[in-house]
Amino acid sequence: MEVPDAVERVLLNEEMIRARVGELAAQISADYADVEDLVLVGVLKGSFIFLADLARRLTVSHHVDFIALSSYNRGAISPGAVRLIMDTRTSVTGRHVLIVEDIVDTGHTLEYLLRNFRARKPASLRSCVLLSKPERRQVEVEADYLGFEIPDLWVVGYGLDYADRFRTLPYIGALKREACE
Ligand code: IMP
Ligand code: MG
Repeated sequence: MEVPDAVERVLLNEEMIRARVGELAAQISADYADVEDLVLVGVLKGSFIFLADLARRLTVSHHVDFIALSSYNRGAISPGAVRLIMDTRTSVTGRHVLIVEDIVDTGHTLEYLLRNFRARKPASLRSCVLLSKPERRQVEVEADYLGFEIPDLWVVGYGLDYADRFRTLPYIGALKREACE
């Protein structure tokens, strides 16, 4: 697999990701074995590949839905402010909700999501996140299911982007500093 110039190094290769996603799917399948109505809520766009791989390895029945967010994290308007720009197609009230997200960075997004979904009165609410950058945390929030902890680097691939690029690289790579400027 060719690595673009902007990618400094591969942090997690396809095999590492595949193995960990399998472990997460096994754990989630065990934990939700007796649950009737599990709905995976993927956060667009970053989670689309992770969600597709995870969902196909679950052995419990489930539905898939999506939301989309707009965040002003790196903008001047209001740091950490998150806005819902597309909601789920179906109501999650009374259902078992598992939010599927690509990465927890400052924690503002996941904190917002949990608060927003808790207000909808689901039967239960948990989160499954592929990556976490613990050094960057500004609000105390942790995923219930976490793939990997990574250092404070901008990562791309496997759904994650930089300016909407690099999403479909099959591995997770760290961008060169100069590529993020
Ligand atoms: P938080 O609100 O700071 O935790 O940011 C979470 C969101 O920022 C994620 O859902 C990603 O969309 C984006 N993000 C944070 N770090 C990265 C990264 O290294 N690569 C790609 N997207 C990232
Ligand atoms: Mg995201």
